[in-house]
Amino acid sequence: MSEGFFDDFYDELMASSESIKKKFVGVDLENQKALLKNGLSYMIMLNKGSQMANSKVDKLGVSHSKEKLDIEPWMYDHWKKSLLATIQKHDTKIGPSLLKDWDELLQKGIDRIVEKY
Ligand code: HEM
Repeated sequence: MSEGFFDDFYDELMASSESIKKKFVGVDLENQKALLKNGLSYMIMLNKGSQMANSKVDKLGVSHSKEKLDIEPWMYDHWKKSLLATIQKHDTKIGPSLLKDWDELLQKGIDRIVEKY
């Protein structure tokens, strides 16, 4: 994935909500981009039924829960929308069917994370 992809994703996500933007105050976004790459790999592996991905995604559930990062469930809708918009921006030829596959793949991971909120 190109470097610009992650910049565009975070721009899109931050612009989508003031409270989401606040969550990233003081966060090193360069580092965060690498973490997002890992996070996305877990989501893809989760969809392939990987046991390791289950435990990685469950850990994200714990770190993003109310007691820790406190990422409220509605924020994941913004996260998913921003990611899908960025995918479309960078792959203008992507069709509705592949986009729907991404949507479903991401939603599965999100459901698992939000369960632990
Ligand atoms: C399914 C969606 C998401 C994935 C895959 C994901 C992935 C990750 C990963 C891998 C980390 C680093 C490891 C950790 O702290 O557990 C992280 C940290 C973090 N995430 Fe997420 N995240 C998601 C959704 C969100 C959303 C919606 C927000 C909204 C603001 C958010 C905000 C943060 C913050 C603030 C950190 C901590 C950064 C730091 O202090 O260094 N994440 N995320």
